[in-house]
Amino acid sequence: MITAYEITLAQAADAREIAELSRDTIEQGLSWRWTERRVLRASRDEATNVVVARRDGVLLGFAIMQYGDDEAHISLLAVRASQRRSGLGSALLAWLEATAGVAGIRAIRLEARAGNAAAKSFYGRHGFTECGSSPGYYEDVEDAVRMVKRLGPAV
Ligand SMILES: CC(C)(COP(=O)(O)OP(=O)(O)OC[C@H]1O[C@@H](n2cnc3c(N)ncnc32)[C@H](O)[C@@H]1OP(=O)(O)O)[C@@H](O)C(=O)NCCC(=O)NCCS
Repeated sequence: MITAYEITLAQAADAREIAELSRDTIEQGLSWRWTERRVLRASRDEATNVVVARRDGVLLGFAIMQYGDDEAHISLLAVRASQRRSGLGSALLAWLEATAGVAGIRAIRLEARAGNAAAKSFYGRHGFTECGSSPGYYEDVEDAVRMVKRLGPAV
């Protein structure tokens, strides 16, 4: 039987699993920057949402988004490899967008690794457009592509 995902703010006890998922699915080939300690700090930060998706109690994906005055920035979003292409990433993104909309955020921005075709396709499918690039952004190992989605009328 297929059960729905439960998407909630992360608890302190989730920090290690989130950090390990980031290391293994996003930061591969780079230094491990999103350590348990950093994730924990983010989850305690009032201007940051650390969100987890679970099914039957198992953590299957997470996202971290930071809020500015008018714009928000997705720092990380990942789904366990075995759970991809079943809508979980879209569900996490929908949660972030809905929350940002309620908070009066007008645009969401992010960077993705230039070679991350899946991420570029995923965000493109959800209305993000490429708005620039940052050469060597990832420790001079890889360039970043910058993407943005405007939620309200342009200012
Ligand atoms: C990018 C990522 C979050 C997508 O999560 P997901 O749960 O697989 O996404 P969804 O099932 O909601 O996919 C929605 C749509 O995005 C696009 N998409 C997702 N993965 C894709 C892929 N590997 N290749 C091409 N398009 C893809 C498709 O249009 C897909 O719709 P479809 O399955 O009907 O074709 C996931 O691949 C992931 O965790 N990757 C590693 C971490 C990462 O790169 N994060 C983003 C940068 S921080």
